[in-house]
Amino acid sequence: MARFPATRTGLAVGLAVGIGSLWLAVAPAVEAHGDVTPQPVDVSRLPPLGAEWRRSNPYRGNPVAIEIGKSAYNQNCARCHGLEAISGGIAPDLRYLEPGDAGDEWYIERFHHGSARDGKVYMPAFGETLGQEAGWAICAWLETVPAE
Ligand code: HEC
Repeated sequence: MARFPATRTGLAVGLAVGIGSLWLAVAPAVEAHGDVTPQPVDVSRLPPLGAEWRRSNPYRGNPVAIEIGKSAYNQNCARCHGLEAISGGIAPDLRYLEPGDAGDEWYIERFHHGSARDGKVYMPAFGETLGQEAGWAICAWLETVPAE
């Protein structure tokens, strides 16, 4: 029977291999269900917006915001609203938000407070965890996704 040599190195190699294969076994399951806890978004390259929530998107058309928003969307929203913002039907398709300020106001309200009715949470609130900079960055990216 093959065994790892009973040396420190042997033990370390054995452990590393063991942990490696454990990770391989677990990784696809994690990916399939998406992340449930909000994933932090690095907004340090964006102008800060202060404590008061805006009602229209200050980052509209900002290429840095669009890039940050795309990855923030994929990490925090795609599991319900669909990859690349193409909804599979669990949640509304965000490509069809109203354009301009009216859409912005509705969008940021949902992002900030989420959506709950009759004691059931339909969408978690992201305002406290991600902040408005991340919210508006995602909105800026959504506007660049073509609707069919
Ligand atoms: C756990 C699933 C889930 C996640 C995660 C989620 N949403 Fe939602 N979202 C929903 C559902 C369900 C609705 C519909 C709510 C309702 O019917 O009241 C919704 C509604 C919305 C709406 C309103 C759309 C409309 O047409 O009325 C916006 C905007 C929105 N979500 C943005 C986001 C953004 C941005 C993220 C990521 C930061 C996100 N959501 C993450 C489930 C989710």
